[in-house]
Amino acid sequence: MLELDDASRHYIVAGRTVAALDDVTQHFSDGSITTVVGRSGCGKTTLLRLLAGLTEPSSGRVQRAPSHSIGVVFQEARLMPWLDVAANVAFPLKKRLSEAEIADRVSDSLSLVGLTEARRALPSQLSGGMAQRVAIARALAQHPDILLLDEPFSALDAFTRRRLQGVLIDIWQERRPTVVLVTHDVEEAVLLGESVIEMESGRVVGRVPLDIPFPREATDPAVVDYRRRILARLVDGAPFSSIQNPRRNP
Ligand SMILES: Nc1ncnc2c1ncn2[C@@H]1O[C@H](COP(=O)(O)OP(=O)(O)OP(=O)(O)O)[C@@H](O)[C@H]1O
Ligand SMILES: [Mg+2]
Repeated sequence: MLELDDASRHYIVAGRTVAALDDVTQHFSDGSITTVVGRSGCGKTTLLRLLAGLTEPSSGRVQRAPSHSIGVVFQEARLMPWLDVAANVAFPLKKRLSEAEIADRVSDSLSLVGLTEARRALPSQLSGGMAQRVAIARALAQHPDILLLDEPFSALDAFTRRRLQGVLIDIWQERRPTVVLVTHDVEEAVLLGESVIEMESGRVVGRVPLDIPFPREATDPAVVDYRRRILARLVDGAPFSSIQNPRRNP
């Protein structure tokens, strides 16, 4: 269970009230993978922070099974600068697992993101994309029930990004966490989401179910068509209800 019920989050910025999230009701089924798109400042990070319990709603409710563990990848890597890569990945596991289990989790997840060689490096010695991959490894190592990702691949080159998109889908299919992933890249949203949520000015203005089997290819005509239609909606404001399954409505 992961749900927002009429959830709003207001901030006072320079004396003005900003509705970062405005009356959002949204259900995320257990084991689903949902992607979120929308312009900069429309409330995507705020939505993730509420789902993670890092921010309280100003009104409304956030419902989450108390037993569910949460892994979060923030928009920026947020590593502990005094710990090396392996110790950063191990840190959230310290209280829960034995030393041997932690060592396995750390080496598995660093290998998944291609950073085995960098395990002894300090954060100051990493590139932006490497730091981002450490943050991804740290979340994956927790085997969380809920995985919340905020632009997790934004600092990566196209090749590494494609590979990690594949890693995420593999992990999701294997362990079935509930995944919510925010991205600015509409193609990525279509490649990774069972449905794509579109946000505008603190509100959810559309939810598009994508009936395409995983793993998906960027060149699949159905992917290309959804991408084109969602982009048109974001850029031109075409009505969201006009987006339907292109396979059924060629
Ligand atoms: N801690 C905060 N204090 C004040 N205002 C905030 C705070 N966090 C977010 N906001 C405001 O809420 C709105 C939504 O911010 P949010 O970070 O959720 O946007 P976003 O969709 O994630 O944008 P981006 O794509 O640029 O990351 C913005 O107007 C922002 O200024
Ligand atoms: Mg954001």
